[in-house]
Amino acid sequence: MSALDVSAFPSDFAWGASTSAYQIEGGWNMDGKGPSTWDTFCHAKGKVFEDQTGDVACNSYQLWEEDLKCILQLGLTHYRLSISWARILPDGTTNHVNLKGVEYYNKVIDNLIASDVTPMVTLCHFDLPQALEDCGGWQSTDIADIFENYARFCFKTFGDRVKLWITVNEPYVYAKLGHEDGIFAPGIKEPGISAYLVGHNMLRAHAKSWHSYNSDFRHLQGGQVSIALNSDWAEPLDPGCPKDVAATERYLAFSLGWFACPVFGTGDYPESMKSRIEARSLELGYNQGPRLPRFSKDEPSPLGTADFFALNYYTSRKVKNLNGARELSFTGDEGAEGVTDPSWPISGIYWLAVVPDGLRKLLKYIKDTYTSLPIYITENGFSQSGPVQKEDDDRCTFYQDTLQEVGKAISQEGVNVKGYFAWSLLDNFEWAEGFRLRFGLFHVDFSTPELKRTFYRSGREYAAVISKHHSQTKSKLV
Ligand code: BGC
Repeated sequence: MSALDVSAFPSDFAWGASTSAYQIEGGWNMDGKGPSTWDTFCHAKGKVFEDQTGDVACNSYQLWEEDLKCILQLGLTHYRLSISWARILPDGTTNHVNLKGVEYYNKVIDNLIASDVTPMVTLCHFDLPQALEDCGGWQSTDIADIFENYARFCFKTFGDRVKLWITVNEPYVYAKLGHEDGIFAPGIKEPGISAYLVGHNMLRAHAKSWHSYNSDFRHLQGGQVSIALNSDWAEPLDPGCPKDVAATERYLAFSLGWFACPVFGTGDYPESMKSRIEARSLELGYNQGPRLPRFSKDEPSPLGTADFFALNYYTSRKVKNLNGARELSFTGDEGAEGVTDPSWPISGIYWLAVVPDGLRKLLKYIKDTYTSLPIYITENGFSQSGPVQKEDDDRCTFYQDTLQEVGKAISQEGVNVKGYFAWSLLDNFEWAEGFRLRFGLFHVDFSTPELKRTFYRSGREYAAVISKHHSQTKSKLV
């Protein structure tokens, strides 16, 4: 990455890396932690590659000091972690607080701050307490208030030190992969119905929590709250074909727009989503009420409930029109299919086509369509599968090209990008793919109990980029 021009990045740019609790912590039943939906999902056979689990993962629950060393070696200014909800509230409610869990996160947060690293904390990165799933989980109306209580507990407990909050990570992924496709926890397959309900309750939970922070904590703590949204960049497969052009708009509406439009746009779902879902319900004779729920006037509106835009970007798609699905399904409603361009290299897994300039285009699209608020890229990364390559040249090229595009988004497109968080600090438990995909800046040796962390070349080079930017900033000040 030595060729990267860092002059476009503002002096206070956040250089970060991200992780999530279930993917790194392990200690799945230690010290009073309750089970989460991911514990249950992994313990049921046949759900995850080779029936692997996050029971131990990188054992960050016991080896946090090793993670901290990695963070310091990288010279990160920011670190994004998530709290395991069930570790601090084993049944998901504030009726019972697990003090050992609270102690763990206090230690992590205190150590970060003492090391001059700003924490960004996600409240729910896919791992819902199983006790709440047993009462309907994200499909239940009550979950929004329960989440709000949990969020308030975290603001009260950690908010004197944590100033950057993410309520929910990637509602699209947990709603769709977990409740439409059934390939993520909780493994529900109710095509065309449950994902919309789950997404809706996640938005309600997020909005209530933001409003709580805004009225009761912001004046005391001065922090910021957002929701992390994932999106591909999308372009028509045939730009000359009006149907592909319209399908591309729907593709973006059904992914980014599903959540960005309520929060940053109109306060409601995208028009194309509402009309398609309603028309298809009629067409397919579905008459059990609206599949896409409506926002109630009696609850706080989702509109304006974010202090910054948090974007997780991994890949891009060429989109073609898809007609005529005869069964209820999200994809049928969307009426679009995304394919990869044969010229795009694939990183580790079929869906992860490497398209760095897609990030620049998406950043510009967000600025033009939704908001001029600062944007943090809260996740972006490149995976490896097969024999480990510590000299991961492809990943180095990927980071260099991607950061170059972020620089261009700032200097040429005028996008207010505040920070970039690489996914991930460490190789970790990659959900249904288990440990066979490695996204780390640090390699983790999962074959020994020490779970030794060692630099990949990409990690060393990322550290060099951060240090180069730091020296440039300092020399400008002198
Ligand atoms: C998730 C991460 C995941 C990454 C790579 C994102 O969808 O937030 O937890 O590891 O993508 O697949």
